[in-house]
Amino acid sequence: MARIGMIGAGSWGTALSKLLDGNGHEVTVWSAIKDEIDMLNRYREHKDKLPGVPLGDRMIFTGDLKQALCDKDAIVLAVPSPFTRKTSHLMKEVIPKDQRVISVAKGIEEDTLLTLTGVIKDEIPDCRTVVLCGPSHAEEVGRGMPTAIVAGSRDMKDSETVQDLFMCEVFRVYTSDDPYGMELGGALKNVIALAAGIADGLGYGDNTKAALITRGIHEISVLGEAAGGKRETFQGLTGIGDLIVTCASMHSRNRRAGILIGQGKSYDEAMKEVNQVVEGVYSAKAAVALAKKYGVQLPIIEQVNEILFYGKSPSKALCELMGRARKEEFT
Ligand SMILES: NC(=O)c1ccc[n+]([C@@H]2O[C@H](COP(=O)([O-])OP(=O)(O)OC[C@H]3O[C@@H](n4cnc5c(N)ncnc54)[C@H](O)[C@@H]3O)[C@@H](O)[C@H]2O)c1
Repeated sequence: MARIGMIGAGSWGTALSKLLDGNGHEVTVWSAIKDEIDMLNRYREHKDKLPGVPLGDRMIFTGDLKQALCDKDAIVLAVPSPFTRKTSHLMKEVIPKDQRVISVAKGIEEDTLLTLTGVIKDEIPDCRTVVLCGPSHAEEVGRGMPTAIVAGSRDMKDSETVQDLFMCEVFRVYTSDDPYGMELGGALKNVIALAAGIADGLGYGDNTKAALITRGIHEISVLGEAAGGKRETFQGLTGIGDLIVTCASMHSRNRRAGILIGQGKSYDEAMKEVNQVVEGVYSAKAAVALAKKYGVQLPIIEQVNEILFYGKSPSKALCELMGRARKEEFT
């Protein structure tokens, strides 16, 4: 039995807490939102983010960050990516040296172009980071549906420790020594999911979706490899796997936002209607900046940026993608 601090009580933090509790660990869940902690203590269910999923009696819900961070074997950081720096900064004051921090959010920081473990290390230099990601919707993990995911760290011992914490009969955890590639795959697939949603919103079908997924993973690999990730990582669960699940599912807020934009809603209207952090929007800008830094072209991701931030119409963006100069599939 391990003692785990879960930082963030949204859909993913709640689903992972339930899983860890089911694995026999002692889980202390922290949220920055007092009402959320009150609700979790009162109902032992996250009524908004994971309704219908009962949470175990042993789980502790607290607004006291110290209680969630002290005397723990590992910390899971599960706040949406725009809150990673602020939350890591708060944690820094309390967290013991050499603590394992498992990063489960997906994103690239816009200003620094750091992936989230980079942001965490920037704020808490003394911690050991491990990435846990892959194709995994909270709604399905919370209901015990079979899922396969990857724990990644440069130090394989840390990857294996995290594998041991999470692995069970419905949650298969592989290990990797390429956390950076995993993080890039996890962040960039959200941008392609926006594109897939836009195509859905325009009324296009399976051919268009398959083209976006396949050429999308190509763009992710081109940038990811240029930035230092391993090619096979983008072909695995945290690359193509996560891209497929995000582009195909209505659980994805990125895809849902894309659908609304494809249907003609403005950026602001779409964000308001989804009413959750749409992380692909942040990663889209960062991806273009990274592409510039590494001198690679990302046609789909560039068009998503044009639509989101420069008012290009989705149909014009799609026309431009289709009208690019003819080329070989693999160059
Ligand atoms: N939901 C999923 O299925 C899923 C699966 C895999 C990975 N992820 C990743 O996990 C991360 C969290 O996703 P989620 O679905 O739980 O998001 P969410 O939108 O459900 O998270 C909202 C939660 O974030 C916390 N929060 C809100 N404002 C905050 C603030 N100002 N400071 C600190 N914390 C604050 C609160 O606990 C709130 O409930 C994301 O990066 C997401 O990409 C999600």
